[in-house]
Amino acid sequence: MSELAVFGGTPIRTEPYPKWPVYDQRDIQAITDVITSGHWGGYPYPGPQTAEFARLFAEMQGGGYAVPMANGTVTMEVALRAVDIGWGDEVIAPAYTFQATAAAVMSAGAIPVIVDVDPETYCIDPKSIQSAITPRTKAILPVHLGAEMADMDAVTELAEEHNLVVVEDCAHAHGAKWRNKGAGTIGHFGSFSLQSSKTLTTGEGGVLLCRTQMLASKAASLIDCGRPHDEAGMLVTMGANYRMTELQAALGIIGLERFPDQAKHREKSAAYMDEALSEVPGVRILKCDPRLTTRSFYQYVFAIDPKVFKVKHDAVCYALEKEGIPCEVGYEAMHHYELFQPILSRLPVPSAFPAYFEFSKMSFPVAERACESDAVWLDESIFRAGKKGVDDVILALKKILANANELAQALIDK
Ligand SMILES: Cc1ncc(COP(=O)(O)O)c(C=O)c1O
Repeated sequence: MSELAVFGGTPIRTEPYPKWPVYDQRDIQAITDVITSGHWGGYPYPGPQTAEFARLFAEMQGGGYAVPMANGTVTMEVALRAVDIGWGDEVIAPAYTFQATAAAVMSAGAIPVIVDVDPETYCIDPKSIQSAITPRTKAILPVHLGAEMADMDAVTELAEEHNLVVVEDCAHAHGAKWRNKGAGTIGHFGSFSLQSSKTLTTGEGGVLLCRTQMLASKAASLIDCGRPHDEAGMLVTMGANYRMTELQAALGIIGLERFPDQAKHREKSAAYMDEALSEVPGVRILKCDPRLTTRSFYQYVFAIDPKVFKVKHDAVCYALEKEGIPCEVGYEAMHHYELFQPILSRLPVPSAFPAYFEFSKMSFPVAERACESDAVWLDESIFRAGKKGVDDVILALKKILANANELAQALIDK
């Protein structure tokens, strides 16, 4: 019989990795307190839990004015709208991200201009940003992907040179720091998702970190049906209800209590993973940039060499899963992404500016290669399972490598 679990062999790991999200009596008590208070929703905004969560979140991230919201997509739309970026303006975003990054740009009425990523980090490539800047460019939307951060020195320099707004998509980057500055506090805005898979979660939810109090007031107004949130009560705008509820914020406060300890564990395991993976043939770990002073581990992304593994990343991930290792191939490149078909859905922006959405004419080789053959995303739970959690990943990869011919042959036979 084959050694590989995918062909009926014994899996490397049978014990499940720890579940996410985690909770304890504190969460239950916090939710009970909100329920009995009668103040469940987000109005009037911010409620006491939401205001406290905002304060603690900004403190944890190391700056900015936090505005909690419904999710980590509207956060980006609101950021753009708060600085009057809208109809026909261009916003540069990377090809390797969740579709929400580009969808939020279109919800604001602006045009997502997709560019390639850096092969060493899989985050937006500053050279590609430079060549995509036009007189219509108004903002850059770097995404801090997996455990990496975009090169914020280069992004900031380009933004200053061309007078552009920077909205950091920090959906994966809670607690991450670049040159000891928190993700989301370097650009004008930092957009965080608190959706249930994220390392800080309120079930659903998001937070927008704003550089100034004035921007935060505008953002609060936009998510609170246009009600004024500036001190003078003068700033009135057209808004909608994107408020965070008190129930969500209460979970966020408890989540923040646990976060530093969890982050420490993940960092320790990930440092061990870096070392161990570096010794596996056909595996390339992403750049450990010394400027990225604190990493955060929503997912740990690495690249395989399909020539060495004799199969692409989807077969490796499938075999890893069967060995008991939770992982995935990650996103598709934005221009190939099934979910990202804005022309088909007849959205206003692609209908009005179709030339920007001719995906068949676009080529982003680095993102395409990551998405189609190389990238493997290891689940965050692996990094809460101690040394053995990491060792099992390495054993499983080595086992797959040792049986690569059999895996490749099975795909040919299929
Ligand atoms: C990179 C990125 N940006 C934005 C989002 C959107 O966040 P949400 O699901 O909270 O709207 C996600 C969520 O998975 C994401 O991974």
